[in-house]
Amino acid sequence: MKICKSIDGLRAVIKEGKVPLGLVPTMGSLHSGHISLIRKARSENKTVVASIFINPLQFESTDDLNLYPRSLENDLGILREECVDIAFTPPITEMYPRGFDTIVRLGLASRIFESQFRNGHFDGVSTVVCKLLSLTRADRAYFGQKDAQQGVIINKMNSDLNLGAEIIMMPTVRETDGLAISSRNVHLSPAERKAATILHKSLNLAESMGTKDAQTIKKGMQTMIETEPLARLEYISISDAFTLEEVEQLEKPALISLAVWVGKTRLIDNTTLK
Ligand code: PAF
Repeated sequence: MKICKSIDGLRAVIKEGKVPLGLVPTMGSLHSGHISLIRKARSENKTVVASIFINPLQFESTDDLNLYPRSLENDLGILREECVDIAFTPPITEMYPRGFDTIVRLGLASRIFESQFRNGHFDGVSTVVCKLLSLTRADRAYFGQKDAQQGVIINKMNSDLNLGAEIIMMPTVRETDGLAISSRNVHLSPAERKAATILHKSLNLAESMGTKDAQTIKKGMQTMIETEPLARLEYISISDAFTLEEVEQLEKPALISLAVWVGKTRLIDNTTLK
């Protein structure tokens, strides 16, 4: 595996490699969710690039950025084991040199659910992913369905800006009790870790309710979440799975997503009702 820290170095190594090229963008702290993306990329491409870059643009506060778990040496070991060809691990100054002054902002992203609680988050995500797609010229790029809104935004940006990659969304990987695997789960105390299963339980409830009425589903989920004293609901959204517009009645594939604080950790999860 080649490790590239610079954009020029990455471009030179990619030039020597074969296509198709699959890109797995990550912020490190790799877990089984990332591994599922890497394995899929490995099975479909001749060259696999995984990036590890904790993107400061997508964090709302320096505290949140500083708290983000870091484990570069361990991550590189995982990438080697998974037969990744190129690890791209740029320093911040390589991605955002002095004078960097371009933000990729989608209209959609600045209006709807997750964005209302994470100011500027998706502008940071779309900017960094746009850079990664254009500098690797990836044929395919892999993301997890846990970040459903991120997936919709990246798909739209890729198509609007003709970036030419196929965006592949992979199912959420879960612990045996249903908790969606996330790098942030390490911040949960044992009691909070137990309480965190309420997200998945409430999504299961939504699936089993058998109603098409969005308000009824939201109410049912909210009531269940309120039974968990360590959990604080931030939002539940029921939207069209492709446009992310809120719906009142579930007619098309609908995305049910929610954000819940468990202690000081903000967790998100979602499911798509067909
Ligand atoms: O999902 C993530 O880990 C990040 O948002 C991504 C896509 C790597 C961009 O920094």
